[in-house]
Formats: sequence, C-alpha cells, structure tokens
Amino acid sequence: MERKELIVDYNEYASVAELAADERELMERAMEAARGAYAPYSRFHVGAAVRMADGTLVTGSNQENIAYPSGLCAERVAMYSASAQHPGLAMTAMAVVGYNEGEYCEASPCGACRQVMAEYEQRDGHEMTLLCYLAGGRIRRIKGVKSLLPFTFEAQL
Ligand code: THU
Repeated sequence: MERKELIVDYNEYASVAELAADERELMERAMEAARGAYAPYSRFHVGAAVRMADGTLVTGSNQENIAYPSGLCAERVAMYSASAQHPGLAMTAMAVVGYNEGEYCEASPCGACRQVMAEYEQRDGHEMTLLCYLAGGRIRRIKGVKSLLPFTFEAQL
C-alpha cells in the first residue's frame, strides 16, 4: 500500500485590478454577462466568459426553465456556445462570477461543468485557466481542470 497525495496549486488575487489585462477583460466580460442571466427561479445569476486561442471572447449566463432540469449553467452555455461558434479553436481560459441582489458574488463551476471543461481540454490538447470571483472581490486562478476533477473519466473511443 502506498499513500499518495494530490496538491491543488492555485493563485489568489486581491481584486480584478491585480489580474493581467487579458484576464481582467475576461472577468469583466463574465461580470457583464451575469447581468443578462435568465434565472427567475433561483434568482442566482451567473456569468461566464471563455477566451479562445485566437483571442476571441465568448460569453454565457445561466438559463433556467420552469421544467427545472432543462436549465443550464453559465459555464456550459459559454463553453457549448464557444465550441459551436468556433469549432477547431481551443479554449484557453474561462472566468466565472455570480451576481445576486445587485452584488457580484462567488461562483465556482459545478461538477457537470468541470466534466465539460475536462473534455474540451482533452479534445483541444490545451489546459484552460479558470478564474473564479470570490467573496470580497478576490479572484482565484487555477491552471487546468485536472486538480478540480482528479481521476477524470475520459472515454477511450
Ligand atoms: N449555476 C451556474 O450557472 N453556474 C455555477 O457555477 C453554479 C450554478 C446556476 C444554475 C442555476 O441556474 C443557478 O445557478 C442556481 O443554482
């Protein structure tokens, strides 16, 4: 028997202002997108923005439906939209933010969204940098989804 350990390596920034210009822009676009969410049932608005390898930005917000399971998270709206609109282009980064009662708030991709990130990373052969807005305006930056979804299921088709 061997005991093994996983280390989650990430950075935290005190505010959006501390990010490099391209990442700041990505988070700002996610913040803008959050205001366009359709979330009448949970009233929890989420915005996401994806950066493509050529610099293009694609945004998404959560979309809910009265038939509850039909709704979709902001992250998947953004990633599916990015893949559909720009087939063949890798996704290099994604920013995520919540927006609740007029204030930006913490948001971090759910398990299903992490699985989708993992598959696009595998398909594109490129890690995605994830920026999450945290309480107090701090920003968490993680390179690649691997540490967020260890021992990932990857079909060998
Ligand atoms: N949601 C997202 O869009 N992204 C997340 O990271 C977590 C949850 C959405 C789903 C639902 O519309 C609402 O937030 C409340 O869970």
